[in-house]
Amino acid sequence: MSLRGSGVGLWWTLALLVAPGAHAFSDADAVRVFTFARAQLADTTAEMPSVNRSPKASLSNGTWTTVANTDRIAWTQGFFPGSMWFMYQVASEPVWRDRADLWTRPLEVQKTNTETHDLGFKMFLSYGNAWRLTGNTYYRDVLLTSAGSLATRYNSTIGIIDCCDWNPNWDIPLVTDTMVDIELLLWGAQNGGPAVWRTMAVNHALKTLADAVRPDGSSYHYVDYRANGTIRSRGTFQGYSSTSTWARGQAWLIYGYTMVYRYTGDARFLDAARKVTDYYLANLPADRVPNWDFNAPSQSKDSSAAAIVASALLELSALETDAARRTTYRDAALGMLDSLVSPAYFAQGTNSPGLLLHGVGNFPAGQEINVSLIYGDYYFLEALLRFNPRPNYPWYSKLDFYRSQHLLGTTNTGIRNVEFDLTPLADNLNGGVVGWTDSSTEVTSFTRLNMAVRMSPEGIFQVRNGGGYSWIRRVPYVRGQTYHFRMRVDLNARRYTVWVTPPGAAELLLVDNVAFRSDAPAINDLGRAAVISTVVDSDFRVNNHRVLAPTLAPGVAQAVEAAPPVPLPEALWRELDAPERVSTGPAGPSER
Ligand code: GLY
Repeated sequence: MSLRGSGVGLWWTLALLVAPGAHAFSDADAVRVFTFARAQLADTTAEMPSVNRSPKASLSNGTWTTVANTDRIAWTQGFFPGSMWFMYQVASEPVWRDRADLWTRPLEVQKTNTETHDLGFKMFLSYGNAWRLTGNTYYRDVLLTSAGSLATRYNSTIGIIDCCDWNPNWDIPLVTDTMVDIELLLWGAQNGGPAVWRTMAVNHALKTLADAVRPDGSSYHYVDYRANGTIRSRGTFQGYSSTSTWARGQAWLIYGYTMVYRYTGDARFLDAARKVTDYYLANLPADRVPNWDFNAPSQSKDSSAAAIVASALLELSALETDAARRTTYRDAALGMLDSLVSPAYFAQGTNSPGLLLHGVGNFPAGQEINVSLIYGDYYFLEALLRFNPRPNYPWYSKLDFYRSQHLLGTTNTGIRNVEFDLTPLADNLNGGVVGWTDSSTEVTSFTRLNMAVRMSPEGIFQVRNGGGYSWIRRVPYVRGQTYHFRMRVDLNARRYTVWVTPPGAAELLLVDNVAFRSDAPAINDLGRAAVISTVVDSDFRVNNHRVLAPTLAPGVAQAVEAAPPVPLPEALWRELDAPERVSTGPAGPSER
């Protein structure tokens, strides 16, 4: 009997088990993870021998095993570029877009690979995130070719995507993992590909539900079919036994059915997602991170399964039609994230090159046991972005112009209000600036900035005005204090007015209707902000940067570049002040 069908009593037992409302997961936790991820991923870019290899599992010496971009059967190459695309999503820094792109493009060689069911993992997480975040049609076109390749593996007699030619023990198998790969087909059918791709994905999902999911919601890892569609065998490849449930295999089902429901709105898939989720939640240990297999006597936690499910349940809770389940699934996801950000699982302070400790790659094969896994890290970041798509990540000043930049888009034209909080983190900032220019202008020197708020070597705030600097009154800046800035920018008149509010004081006019820098390039939009140090990286920071469109009602503005709302405690900001360790971007000249 399925959990869902077993009546109200069992459902409420499950609800009580997973929904005590005791989770504490917060924006501050998300920012802490992204701050750490920034340094870990930057280090990993430096560690990779080339853009043709990507990390997979941690080694005890603090490095990664790597996989070649050309490996046709390997499934993990998309996770590293995908994680870097997530970093680009966090703060719109070109450095992360460029790093992500560097590891995405070498995977184009896979787009015609018809030997694997795992093209979804490889391509959708790399090229799919690239397309989502940039709208560059190159990425879309590669994805569509890839979807066509995956579609060649569809067996129309059985109604499945055939998984694994490499295994001589199987004839025509499916594995639960493929439930995630088929997003490539569903996306493709919605984005210019043939409608039959959607039918293939739907049929595959239904066949997996019929044959790999047991009545109680647990699962076989694989089902192997004869050519006529009858089942040859079913069991496990990476789990403990043919009657057990491999934790990550179950996680792929939870993620997959939730995703298919998102694309189709078909209630059969919501029911399937509930069924596999309810089994998973009812069998979790207290810390909500499962053993590698729910039924194995050997104990080794798999944090990657927890990260996949946390991400899936944040989506499932958003799609749920039943209010009680919505709450249960969201609380369960946040409880999982609470565990994953605790010292028991979070890799900060260890020698791991990844984000999460205690993942299991393939226990029966004795491979990758109790390690960090690039895919666990990817879904961990995805879960955080599902929790808050644009976390209140601080912008730290950078010495090189390339790394100092944040993209604001092309829509901020005409008259705009800009607001932000600026905190000096050192006594002498020697002319560090927050500056703005056009979306199409790469900032390679101070002269590229049309307007700038500057911290002068004498210790006061100034504003760039034409050929020099202006201020109406001397407002000193003090290390560790946060100053709120408000600017009114008229891009057509090329003039701006700046007010500053020191802590505990009234707002002061700093400059009134002064000219843009006279030797800066023409500006059509307010598309790029740069946060530039002149002494060391991270000697000041900017929070809550917002560009606002003035509305007709005086004193009311409409957010354009939306700012995440929750300010963090000062103690936490200090913890976050560690500078990033690696730069791969071109350094700008140090011209002032
Ligand atoms: N797709 C293979 C795994 O989950 O290990």
